[in-house]
Amino acid sequence: MSTSCKPDFSLQGKTALITGSTQGLGLVIARAYAASGARIVINGRDGDRVAAIVQALTAEGHDVHPYVQDISRLEEQELAFSQLCRKIGTPDILVNNVGIRIRKALGEATLRDIVELINVDLIAAVQMSRLAAAAMADNRIQGRLITLTSIAGELARMGDAIYPIAKQGLCGLIRALAVEYGPRGITSNGIAPGTFATESNAALAADPVKGPIVVGRNPLGRWARPDEIGGAAVFLASSSASYVNGHILVVDGGFSVTF
Ligand SMILES: NC(=O)c1ccc[n+]([C@@H]2O[C@H](COP(=O)([O-])OP(=O)(O)OC[C@H]3O[C@@H](n4cnc5c(N)ncnc54)[C@H](OP(=O)(O)O)[C@@H]3O)[C@@H](O)[C@H]2O)c1
Repeated sequence: MSTSCKPDFSLQGKTALITGSTQGLGLVIARAYAASGARIVINGRDGDRVAAIVQALTAEGHDVHPYVQDISRLEEQELAFSQLCRKIGTPDILVNNVGIRIRKALGEATLRDIVELINVDLIAAVQMSRLAAAAMADNRIQGRLITLTSIAGELARMGDAIYPIAKQGLCGLIRALAVEYGPRGITSNGIAPGTFATESNAALAADPVKGPIVVGRNPLGRWARPDEIGGAAVFLASSSASYVNGHILVVDGGFSVTF
């Protein structure tokens, strides 16, 4: 038993792959991991954007690698991931961060909308997690699987049905991985963000009607700053969370406990 009671949040010696990390919460998480000592892998579909982030973070003194890959192309994932592992080794930490949104009611959505969103937001993360967990287990890595859900992972909203279906599926993924890979020393947890003022929410935050409604419904009375996701992500990846498994950490300013 360790005699030190000081929590350890260092990620020194760890490699973290964060999907969708050229902007928004994925980039904040990548930066927080790099600042905590991890080697990080930046992922996105656009090679130039990935290269620019890799260059900028490398210039800041971090150990950064590119992974240009559309993770929703399921048939390419296995080969692409195994090539990445051959190049840099098996990641110790996978963050399933990619998520798109198509704000439509089920009655308005096309089947194509539904299949697209569920493929990108849910099935791609299931497949990434399967690949990463298997590689971690084969290499006896006490890995960390961290998946971004949402307050929509527990709630439903009029006119915005497909996203909650996918996010609620991710909650099942988090728990299934926790049970299946816990015996191999690999933990699986989630982060459920509330309303963050990221690039993808810029229009909503600036909307003179909808922006203040979000603020008014939140006990903290404001949008979250993107950097406010970093602490939760570092905690779940660190040895301080060694006995946390199957948990979904809500980071929403208290939004989901009000009524
Ligand atoms: N922002 C919020 O307030 C909020 C709230 C609740 C939950 N979340 C969840 O948090 C996660 C991040 O949200 P965000 O708002 O920060 O996202 P975002 O700003 O839309 O950023 C998405 C990132 O993913 C990349 N990307 C998109 N599709 C991809 C694909 N198929 N393959 C690889 N990379 C892809 C994008 O780069 P390229 O386009 O260049 O590929 C970009 O770097 C999502 O899962 C979202 O549902 C966010």
